[in-house]
Amino acid sequence: MASERMLKALNEQIQEEMFSAYLYLSMSADFEAKNLKGFAHWMKLQAQEELIHALKFFDFIPEVNGEVILLPIAQPQKTWETPLKAFEDAYEHEKHISGKINDLVTIALEDKDYATKTTLLDWFVSEQVEEEATASEIVQLLKMAGDSFQGIFMMDQKLAGRVIEAANEE
Ligand code: FEO
Repeated sequence: MASERMLKALNEQIQEEMFSAYLYLSMSADFEAKNLKGFAHWMKLQAQEELIHALKFFDFIPEVNGEVILLPIAQPQKTWETPLKAFEDAYEHEKHISGKINDLVTIALEDKDYATKTTLLDWFVSEQVEEEATASEIVQLLKMAGDSFQGIFMMDQKLAGRVIEAANEE
């Protein structure tokens, strides 16, 4: 059985992951409206990954006899000036999420809740390394592309090729 504070933090993490999905869907809609279909596709898949992350917490809480409490999801920003600005925000957001996962690990260690740490949180620690690296790499590429139409077009083509990762398909 997880502690009360762990259960509270796990429920809050569902909210964080759902907000992540909302944020990336909002970016996807903004890209779509600007006819940047590859960017829009990439962000929509990212939103799907975030829903899977939320479901991992949603499914885990009852396994430790906890109660799922769904918290409100804030309205995300609607538009971004450039693709670079959107991906810079995505990168900052992923760093924020990594901090939240680290806070959960801290609670698990303080509570000696090794079950939650091993069964659930360790996966997220690794996942966040990947999430940050991916967003950071795209930020770097967009900085190199600059404002040139050709650079943005090439990035749009590249991001159009994203597929859902096998590890997240379950
Ligand atoms: Fe669920 Fe992108 O962190």
